[in-house]
Amino acid sequence: MSDIKYDIAIIGAGPGGYHAAIRAAQYGAKVALIEKDKLGGTCLNVGCIPAKALYASAQLIEKIQEIDDFGIEIKDYSLNFEKAVNRKNRVVRELVDGIAVLEKAWNNDIFFGHGKIIGGDISTGFEIEIQSEETQKIKAKRVIIATGSSPALIPSFNIDHERILTSDDILDPSFSTVPEKLLIIGAGVIGCEFANIFAAFGSKVTMLEYLSSPIATEEPMIVKELIKKFQKMGVQIKTSVNVLSVENTGTDVKVITCSADIPRDGIDNAEKSVYEADLCLVSIGRNKESKNLGTEEMGIKTKRGTIKCDSTTLETSVKGIYAIGDVTGGLMLAHVAYYEADIAVANALASIGGFPVKEMRTDYKVVPATIFTTPNISSVGFRRKSAKDRGIDVLMGLFPYQALGKAKCLGEEEGYIMTLADKENLRIIGASCIGFESSQLIAELALAIKNGLTVHDISETIHCHPTLSEMVLEGTEAILGKAIHKKGRPIHL
Ligand code: NAI
Repeated sequence: MSDIKYDIAIIGAGPGGYHAAIRAAQYGAKVALIEKDKLGGTCLNVGCIPAKALYASAQLIEKIQEIDDFGIEIKDYSLNFEKAVNRKNRVVRELVDGIAVLEKAWNNDIFFGHGKIIGGDISTGFEIEIQSEETQKIKAKRVIIATGSSPALIPSFNIDHERILTSDDILDPSFSTVPEKLLIIGAGVIGCEFANIFAAFGSKVTMLEYLSSPIATEEPMIVKELIKKFQKMGVQIKTSVNVLSVENTGTDVKVITCSADIPRDGIDNAEKSVYEADLCLVSIGRNKESKNLGTEEMGIKTKRGTIKCDSTTLETSVKGIYAIGDVTGGLMLAHVAYYEADIAVANALASIGGFPVKEMRTDYKVVPATIFTTPNISSVGFRRKSAKDRGIDVLMGLFPYQALGKAKCLGEEEGYIMTLADKENLRIIGASCIGFESSQLIAELALAIKNGLTVHDISETIHCHPTLSEMVLEGTEAILGKAIHKKGRPIHL
């Protein structure tokens, strides 16, 4: 194997892949990073980063609408969407360029082209073909597949990328319209984030969701707060809706629906509703990107596009080949891909030997997540139902933003934090929060759950005053009915 140039070849340079490449180099590995499109993948180019850059503009508009209360008079303002998009594009460009600089600084070789594993095994090393204008071949001792996902395209939804769009289209550098009316099919994470952004920009937004609730994975109490907020913004949410057809009429988009409760054989005669809008965003989930990677030829097991791997080591069914991030069918979150990158790199290099790293195993007990609406929704660990289903005796604390000095100063009084502890040992087991910058608050709770900390561990830690971090302090104290700024008893679920 001494003639093999690369210790690890990584296919895909999204958050999973680029992170794995840098981590491997930090351990002294020689790395090849292969990307068919742009460094940074979905997250940096058409996902988290551009969405949050636009969201920053939307947040400012929302803030300006209440600025009078802060004693500031703004006579007139308007959105210059072109400028907002330019700023978003600049943020993306700078971060993508930064990835190239970092990879170079670690002496990682970047290959642009479609990577495909064409042969080899763990004892001989793997051969990878990089298909671009000039096809190249490289050899690596181990391979990490980090090819990500792309928006799900249902043929009957006629996504034409003109009026019927995916999030990729809306976040494309050239997208330049704020539609007067926007229809969003799918009120999940992407749907809600874009509903929030475009409602703040002035679009009349209607969401069509198949299930009986938007973002059905979050605490129902928290989702109710978001629905209230969306109603205030004029966003209509139609739930239990079956979308039957989506059509670009040339001048607008026409969507026909019926109730999701109607069985398939009753649809023809069912009552229909018609929705019309300038643009329609389809955000109904994402497909895994696993085509033409050589999985079949190599015998890597897949299931409906998902690359199957050992959920603790992240090794696929072929020894020496690992898979991380969205393509594995787990939680589609950039920070999960980062985490899995560390695990796969450690296991790959430990299996080669001679690197200062030991094998690692995954642990998905603590995965914080945020939905970037205004206010943010964040959660970690158990929800109430999942904890009860596990037979845990649960204590719950609730603490509202409006009771917190810092939140009042900021004029950010919407929402609350819900914390859960195991009654038996008072360990924190979960938290959900809707409110200003809850995305930042959830990190402390993630650390607490990960390390088995108790209510007392948090309440006996001095938190700076006045800060939003006190939401965590008081929210945790509320579990014992001992929050200072809100009278309440412990809630035993
Ligand atoms: P999602 O799974 O969050 O939501 C899709 C929604 O569409 C669901 O509510 C589903 O019931 C609904 N749906 C599915 N088929 C439908 C149909 N035919 N008609 C009407 N509704 C339908 O998927 P989404 O929003 O596309 O996001 C994809 C992934 O990206 C998710 O896993 C999400 O977690 C991740 N993501 C994470 C972000 C974050 O962490 N802030 C931001 C954006 C995406």
